[in-house]
Amino acid sequence: MNQEIAPLLEFARDYLRVNHAPFYMPGHKRGQGIDPEFADLIGNNLFRLDLPELPGLPEAIAVAQELAANAYGADRTWFLVNGSTCGIEAMLLATCQPGDKILLGRNCHKAAIAALILSGAVPVYLETSYDATLDLDLGVTPSTLRSALEAHPEAKAAFVVSPNYFGVCGEIEELVAIAHDRSIPLLVDAAHGAHLHFHPDLPISAVAAGADLVVQSTHKVNAGLTQASMLHLRGNLVGGERVSQALQLVQSTSPSLLLLTSLDVARRQMAVHGKELLGQTLALAEWARSQIHNLPNLDTFDRQQIPTLDPTRLTVMVDRLGITGFDADAILYEQLGVMAEMPTLRQLVFILTFGNTSQDIERLVRALIRLEQARRGQSQGKGLAFVRQSGHQTQEFMTNAKPQPQISPREAFFAKRDRVEFKLACDRISTEIICPYPPGIPVICPGEVITRDAIDFVLAIKQAGGTVNGSSDPTLETIGVVAHNS
Ligand SMILES: Cc1ncc(COP(=O)(O)O)c(C=O)c1O
Repeated sequence: MNQEIAPLLEFARDYLRVNHAPFYMPGHKRGQGIDPEFADLIGNNLFRLDLPELPGLPEAIAVAQELAANAYGADRTWFLVNGSTCGIEAMLLATCQPGDKILLGRNCHKAAIAALILSGAVPVYLETSYDATLDLDLGVTPSTLRSALEAHPEAKAAFVVSPNYFGVCGEIEELVAIAHDRSIPLLVDAAHGAHLHFHPDLPISAVAAGADLVVQSTHKVNAGLTQASMLHLRGNLVGGERVSQALQLVQSTSPSLLLLTSLDVARRQMAVHGKELLGQTLALAEWARSQIHNLPNLDTFDRQQIPTLDPTRLTVMVDRLGITGFDADAILYEQLGVMAEMPTLRQLVFILTFGNTSQDIERLVRALIRLEQARRGQSQGKGLAFVRQSGHQTQEFMTNAKPQPQISPREAFFAKRDRVEFKLACDRISTEIICPYPPGIPVICPGEVITRDAIDFVLAIKQAGGTVNGSSDPTLETIGVVAHNS
């Protein structure tokens, strides 16, 4: 297919030329009624193109989606305007009936837990592998998936995250082969992997590896606008009609032309220039790593340690500075003009994309040098002292917690509930998702028994300056638990 064209961009351009009196949505009528201060800030064309359904648009979307399927190596692609979140929900709704078992890495994003609640599928959580030195989740291994399928041959699908927030992709081709041996689909949350297909030095994309349904946040690593994502289908283990029907349940009926157009041009950009653009990003990432390796109290890892790493994701271990990732994040942002994607208790994660200039990368390296120099000879910060004292200085908790669901997430979500003090909720069954954000991996899921360790871990994250969300009480003083008499 000719990947140089962009049908939605053409549609938008043609539409700008149309001169008529608008009696359709949205209410600001091509920007005429928009707040003037907002218009001054943003510019007019954005509002003139802020449109939902229009004559001719469905046809343009269909061609744009076909081009995307062709570019990403899929049999069919859907554009998503509610993020990968709605794609994950649709993947489960399309493959599981209420009560069906699904094998699911417990390192999944909270959207997968929402999908379990919506679909009524029952999770069999898979343990993920963990590297203690790097404090790094390595995802679901082939042997874990194989054993789980032997123990649960009735499972209707398997779901894994690849790449994860740290860029670890795992043995995705083997996972596909194992699932296909049993004729069940492998569903992949590749929210962080929309770029992988476009450079030979990046790990194989889940679509190219043969996964059946793959969701990608185009907005995270490619140039889509925020919330713009794609869902790709391959093979015939999952029916396309079922996916379309599921998407209609979870997507807006007023998809934004701006978001859709951003998906179309992001596809064109990758298909036409991806190799060159990503080649530059890979070179910058390699240079940044080499500089960080020279700093005595900072560290990072590369593909020698983690062969399936996406090198454009840069994790810097900061704990030898005597501070937490949260403290380091605040210093970088407030004093050194650099903003990371995600702090953890021991690390800072930086997302490098082709949007980053060499000046950005130099600024990052300079800031890390200054941070490292400023911390030399300093005593341990309060945050890290607290975290160490509480015994939860690592992500290890997440991989070793082995949560035991008592009832399904859906049953818990709809159960009669008591509200109890969070600190005292030990041994009760949660009705809520409790989740440090980012990375959005729940510490406590609906249906699981709340453990003392889980409570302490969440409190340690909060104390260290992290954000915890998902709870119906934003202060997290209290939590909803299944009522004793329900
Ligand atoms: C692994 C993973 N999956 C899914 C999502 C949700 O993606 P979106 O923000 O596009 O809805 C995220 C968001 O951070 C994520 O990290």
